[in-house]
Amino acid sequence: MLASMEGVISLGVGEPDFATPWHIREAAIHSLEKGYTMYTSNSGLLELRQELVRYLRAAYHLDYDPYGELLITNGVSEGLDLAIRAILDPGDEVILPDPCYVSYPPCVLFSGGVPVPVPTNPENYFKLDASDIEARITDQTKAILIGYPANPTGAVMSREELAQIADVARQHNLLVISDEIYSRLVYETWHTCFASLPEMKERTILLGGFSKAYAMTGWRIGYAAANAEIIGAMTKIHQYTALCSPIMGQMAAIEALNSGEEEVERMVKEYDQRRRVIVNGLNEIGLACFEPRGAFYAFPSIRVTGLSSEEFAERLLLEERVAVIPGSAFGQCGEGHVRCCYATSLGDIEEALRRMGRFVERHK
Ligand SMILES: Cc1ncc(COP(=O)(O)O)c(C=O)c1O
Repeated sequence: MLASMEGVISLGVGEPDFATPWHIREAAIHSLEKGYTMYTSNSGLLELRQELVRYLRAAYHLDYDPYGELLITNGVSEGLDLAIRAILDPGDEVILPDPCYVSYPPCVLFSGGVPVPVPTNPENYFKLDASDIEARITDQTKAILIGYPANPTGAVMSREELAQIADVARQHNLLVISDEIYSRLVYETWHTCFASLPEMKERTILLGGFSKAYAMTGWRIGYAAANAEIIGAMTKIHQYTALCSPIMGQMAAIEALNSGEEEVERMVKEYDQRRRVIVNGLNEIGLACFEPRGAFYAFPSIRVTGLSSEEFAERLLLEERVAVIPGSAFGQCGEGHVRCCYATSLGDIEEALRRMGRFVERHK
């Protein structure tokens, strides 16, 4: 629908509106000029893995072995699929939050596993409660799959709250897949890496990437860090399906880690300003929105309109030319909400809010 319409402001797609910082693009251009156009090791360029080891040590005091505990993937998307395929047997259950990123339940299903959603809600800032996880553990439970800061809600979890989930994982001998693609996009708080919690490094598959922090969605570069047995199994699947990640992207990622910090901070500052404008604006027009502290999404309630989230999104697009994503796309508990991505210009956000305000006035 969107493609056939003119004048639409999109708060839909979840990606940065910035182009990849120039020096990172330039690193890839130079690598092409030098003739780096071949396969890399299945695990990814050693130099990139070594840079990641340095980064994870500096950021979280985590020590990974670049030769066996790190794998460069085609984005977190591939890392997620590899992690799930490597650890699941048919019938195994994976506990995950509802709402959650659209890929989590299908990836579990593709592996013959069973996604077990745990409801979360705005009253609790969409945090995952450890006791709710524990209540859903059965003999078939293999892993907990989390992703904080969260898509679609923008929720973050504190170190203490994550530590409670870690206790459950330890007591029930579960693995944890932790999708930390938004780790750099946090506001007025700091990110806790799940693997950095006591005794969690051994049972956590940490997934990270370059798409969001460095505005590198099109490069398709991510990484997985875990114990050698799991990374070995993931590498086997990666080797026979993808072979390796593109070398230009890996070269660019090395540059990003080496000298991308200033741009990350600049973009985070911008997102933070937009976050305040959209959250205040949504609340002012009557769409109650808790304050998201991570990623670049606001997830307001649309219940005042009496519309389903799908009706809301479709009518808003047709009547006011603003694109948002229906909350139901992210799970049953997403119903009654829509996801608004604020990785777009302030001017567009302000105009989208004006249009949404008119829409809400008509429909409440
Ligand atoms: C929570 C989450 N995980 C993973 C991805 C995919 O990341 P990548 O571009 O690294 O494959 C996204 C993209 O929107 C996401 O929101």
